[in-house]
This record gives sequence, C-alpha cells and structure tokens, in this order.
Amino acid sequence: MTQRTLVLLKPDAVARGLVGTILARYEAKGLSFAAVDLRTIDGELADQHYAEHREQPFYPGLRAFITSGPLLAVVVEGESAIAAVRALNGATDGIKAAPGTIRGDLTTSGSRNLVHASDSPQSAAREIALWFPELA
Ligand code: TYD
Ligand code: MG
Repeated sequence: MTQRTLVLLKPDAVARGLVGTILARYEAKGLSFAAVDLRTIDGELADQHYAEHREQPFYPGLRAFITSGPLLAVVVEGESAIAAVRALNGATDGIKAAPGTIRGDLTTSGSRNLVHASDSPQSAAREIALWFPELA
C-alpha cells in the first residue's frame, strides 16, 4: 500500500552535510518526496512533535538539539513507506543500529542520531498534519 511518512533530517544531519547522502538512500529504495522544507523550529513545534516524550528525562536535551539549527522536514512517499523508512533509518542508538542503516553507518550517537521517522500510520497522519498542514 502506498503511504506517506514524516521524516526529519535533524540539525546534525544538516550541519554534517549529510542531506544528500541520506535523501539518496530513500530514493535508492524506490521512495519519493511529496514535500521538502528546510526550517529552524521553535520549542512550541518541538513540544507538539515530541508530545509522547515531553515527560522523559532526555526531553530537555532533545528539545534544545532539535531547535538548535536548520533541519530538513520531508514527506516521504511510496510502498509501505512508514516501515521502509524506519528500517532504512535503523535503531535509535547509533551504536546498536545495524551497519547498512543510516544511523548504523553514519553516527555513534543515541541522541544526535540524524533522522526521525513516523512510527505508525497514526503518527504519520498526525505529524504530516503538524509539519505540512497543506498536505493533510
Ligand atoms: P524515540 O521515539 O524513542 O526514538 P526514534 O527516533 O527511533 O523513534 O526517541 C525520540 C528521540 O529522542 C530519539 O531519536 C533520540 C532521543 N532520545 C534520547 O536522546 N535519549 C533516549 O534515551 C531516547 C530513548 C531517545
Ligand atoms: Mg519515535
């Protein structure tokens, strides 16, 4: 089934010059882009995006990081896009992420871990509406 999912190339990905490398991996898989936007977000959008994590001890650091500079927000589209992008991204912690995945190949960090992707159809719908209301 064709799906859309919300992907973020986080500020570390932009700062490290990995935008092209990461987007190329999604394209190589056969996925495409329905929307792309470079922006620096404020804490309010961070709080909405990461609503499920707001009470976690790591959230203040995550909030500071995700608002620290430009990120690339992308709506990725294609067959089973939600699961496909999660698989390409790899596990949350770059050390545990398998080699061959974006995180497994490109970061050792569990917090500055380059990418976000929606984790379910419900999350994808909520996150696309939040970041790209014109697409919802
Ligand atoms: P989570 O939704 O669990 O991971 P994923 O991005 O793989 O869906 O967590 C969201 C982000 O929060 C994660 O990408 C990095 C950050 N984070 C930490 O900084 N420390 C932690 O212990 C966890 C679990 C997440
Ligand atoms: Mg998550």
